[in-house]
Amino acid sequence: MAGKSARLREHLLALLRDGLAPHDRLPPERSLAEEFGLSRLTVRRVLDELEQEGLVYRVRGSGTFAGEPRIAKSVELTSFTEDMRARGLRPGSSPVTRELVPAGADVGYALRLSPSEEVLRLTRVRTADGEPMCLERTHLPAALVPGGLDLDGSLYEELARRYDIVPRRAEQTINATVLGPDDAEALQVAAFSPAFLVRRTAYDDRGRPVERAESLYRGDRYAYHLTIYRA
Ligand code: GLP
Repeated sequence: MAGKSARLREHLLALLRDGLAPHDRLPPERSLAEEFGLSRLTVRRVLDELEQEGLVYRVRGSGTFAGEPRIAKSVELTSFTEDMRARGLRPGSSPVTRELVPAGADVGYALRLSPSEEVLRLTRVRTADGEPMCLERTHLPAALVPGGLDLDGSLYEELARRYDIVPRRAEQTINATVLGPDDAEALQVAAFSPAFLVRRTAYDDRGRPVERAESLYRGDRYAYHLTIYRA
């Protein structure tokens, strides 16, 4: 079942990417269910997920339609994986390194640990359809993830699945910067190319800091999008 619904998701993502213009109608639930050998309920769940990601929208009584393409990063608390999927891109991480290190002053302060307490440090080059997009250095209190983490996929999904930890709120700052030679090489761009440095401290439901991350996003591929209101 999981395999079939994953196939349907891939099919719809490909359609949204290559086949449909914004506001075009998707095939009806009934025919998707038949074509993929799934129940209507499962098809609806796959569509719900796409709707939550902003890729499609529903109009009661007339069906599901392709959304406007999202080209910018919003300020919601999302993961890299969610951001890429929302654009119809395949998220990945390569390479990934993990080390247990003392928190040190800055990370310790952010995670409310003493500088000598251990943190798990993950360094990941995040890719979209195989292309490097972002270099991420993430620190998690080692005590929160005692059994380690399987990091082929999404950190946030793994934290939720294995430890029931969900980042709910984050303090985040965004700075303009340029990439030093090593970081530029990891992202396969010229040394001193512009980038966004995003620092995030994320907290769970109970207000515990669960992550301190520094992410370098390629300046040529990212924009931050804000919806702003006038009172
Ligand atoms: C974003 C955030 C990081 C966070 C990551 C999780 O990139 N800037 O702080 O660690 O998402 O993404 P994923 O769940 O895909 O590993």
